[in-house]
Amino acid sequence: MKGVILAGGLGSRLRPLTLVTNKHLLPVYDKPMIYYPIEAMVNAGIREILIVTGGEHAGDFLKLLKNGNQLGLKHLEYAYQEGEGGIAEALKLAEDFADGQKICVILGDNIIEGNLKKAAGDFFTQTTGAKILLKEVPDPERFGVAEMSGNRVTGIIEKPKDPPSNLAVTGIYFYDNDVFDICQTLKPSDRGELEITDVNNHYLERGDLTHEVLEGWWTDAGTFESLYRATRYVAEGGANHKDLTTLAPPLFSANA
Ligand code: DAU
Repeated sequence: MKGVILAGGLGSRLRPLTLVTNKHLLPVYDKPMIYYPIEAMVNAGIREILIVTGGEHAGDFLKLLKNGNQLGLKHLEYAYQEGEGGIAEALKLAEDFADGQKICVILGDNIIEGNLKKAAGDFFTQTTGAKILLKEVPDPERFGVAEMSGNRVTGIIEKPKDPPSNLAVTGIYFYDNDVFDICQTLKPSDRGELEITDVNNHYLERGDLTHEVLEGWWTDAGTFESLYRATRYVAEGGANHKDLTTLAPPLFSANA
C-alpha cells in the first residue's frame, strides 16, 4: 500500500506565519508538522509516499525532506496543486503514483498519538472500498461528522451546524483505486471545493465504507488554536511517533 499526504492549500488561517513558508512546515513542538503524517505512515509500514502541495513555498518541502531517506522512506514523490480546489481535487493528482494500488491518505495537518498499524492491516484484508477513522471531539461542527445508527455510519455531513454525533471524520482515509473515478464525478461544494466528504458518502451509498474509531488523541493543526493544541499534546503526551528507531517492517509487498 502506498501513502499520499495532502499538504496543499494556502494556509490562510495561519497568516502571517504562512506568508514565509507552507503551513505544513511550521513547527509542532520539536518537528515540522509534515513529519507527523510521514511518521504515522512509516510506523504503519508504508514507505512509498507522495506529497501533494502547492502555493509559493512548495520548494521548501524539497529543502527539508529531500528524498525522504532520513525519515525511513524508500521513495518520496511530490505533486503540485494549482490553487486550492479542495482535498478531493488534490487527491486526483495521486492517480499515476497510486498505479492501481490501494492508498492510505492523510491530511498534512493531522496529528495522531497512536499508530495506524491495525487500521492499515484491516484495510489490507478489505477486498474493495474505503475505510475512514472516526474520533470523538468536543467541537464536531468544525469537521466532517458521522451520522450513526448503532455502530453503523449512515451518512457524513461536512461541518454541520447541528452535528448528528460528536464523531469527527479524521483526515486519515484508506481507498481502493476506484477513488480516482469517484473524484472525477464530484461537483464543487458551496465553498467551491471538491469535498472528501462527498467521496466518502459515495462509498457509503454503495455499501463499501468501513470505519474504526481511532485510539489516542487526534487533532488537526490548521488554526492558531489547534496548532497550539497539537504542540501541547506532543510536548506533554510523549507521542509515539517520536521514536523512529522502532520502525515496523514493511507491511505490504510492492504490489499490494
Ligand atoms: O481534519 C479533518 C477534517 O479535514 C475533516 O473532518 C473534514 O471532513 C475535511 O473536509 C477537512 O476539513 P478542513 O476544513 O479542516 O480542511 P482544510 O481546508 O483545513 O484542509 C486540510 C488539509 O487538506 C490541509 O492541511 C491541506 C489539504 N488540502 C486542502 C485543500 C483545501 C489540500 O491539499 N488542497 C486543498 O485544496
